[in-house]
Amino acid sequence: MENPLHTLGHNFLNTTGSADQENPLKLSRRGFMLLAATLSSCAAADPLKPATAARPASAPVKTPSNTAYRTPSIKGPVPRNPDLHLSNNFSKSSGISFSRVLVSGNYIAMTFDDGPQPQNTPRLLDMLRERNIKATFYVIGQSVDLYPAVVRRTVAEGHEIGNHSNTHRLLSKLPDAEILADLHRCENAIVRACGVKPPTMRPPYGGLLQRQRELVHAEFGYPIILWSVDPLDWKRPGASVVSSRILAGASSGGIVLSHDLHSQTVDAMPNTLDTLLRRGFKFVTVSQLLAMKLETPGTAPAPAEPAVQTEQVPPTF
Ligand code: NI
Repeated sequence: MENPLHTLGHNFLNTTGSADQENPLKLSRRGFMLLAATLSSCAAADPLKPATAARPASAPVKTPSNTAYRTPSIKGPVPRNPDLHLSNNFSKSSGISFSRVLVSGNYIAMTFDDGPQPQNTPRLLDMLRERNIKATFYVIGQSVDLYPAVVRRTVAEGHEIGNHSNTHRLLSKLPDAEILADLHRCENAIVRACGVKPPTMRPPYGGLLQRQRELVHAEFGYPIILWSVDPLDWKRPGASVVSSRILAGASSGGIVLSHDLHSQTVDAMPNTLDTLLRRGFKFVTVSQLLAMKLETPGTAPAPAEPAVQTEQVPPTF
């Protein structure tokens, strides 16, 4: 496998255009920092991992209340996503891994991971409903069992549910049988809660080897959904930073990763969503985005290298 450090450093150059070639040490450090951030992405959003020994394994993470940030007030009516009647029947054979989708038009998919969370998810659902925006929620099976009503509301309001494993472990380190059993447990929890099977999955930390992706795809039919924009919102940099990172990375066919587990992320959404709507983006679910995929062999972006955690230890907060 290609050295992921090299790949990330290369991508970083391409995406920023800051060809710092006379300073390879600096580039290497930046590449490393990006690699570290990528590998540990989602790591803090580990709601089933106790922060202290005293907390039971099934208890949800409590994020500190956010008192400093106020969402900028909106002048005039809240902009609304157009009423989109789009197919969500994507071809299961059109690909296995996606970090973005080649489409014609300004379509973008917001994805929210690691819920349901009993306060933040309903607050986000209110914001999405006000703007007629449909999103995709990659939920954790154990949290679905704790808060099934939140999942039912999510589906009832037209959003899509994805499988994000049952306990948010790094699946790439598990035996095949345990990977499948874990994903089955999550799928069953989702079906119990809302009666709908998830059409796609996202591995925790983005960690799933190509061989394992093929195994999961063959077993469930799931495409493996990664992301094109990662605001690193799990580090809780503040709502305005989360918003500006998403706005900087948004592009046609993009898949935006964030976490409705965290209050700051939800705080960031009104400004983020309204700005994207004003820029002409139309919000769709991941399945709708996949169903719009243009069939142009040779021009489609190559699947992302698996972001597999090998030596990194996830942060414990
Ligand atoms: Ni996650």
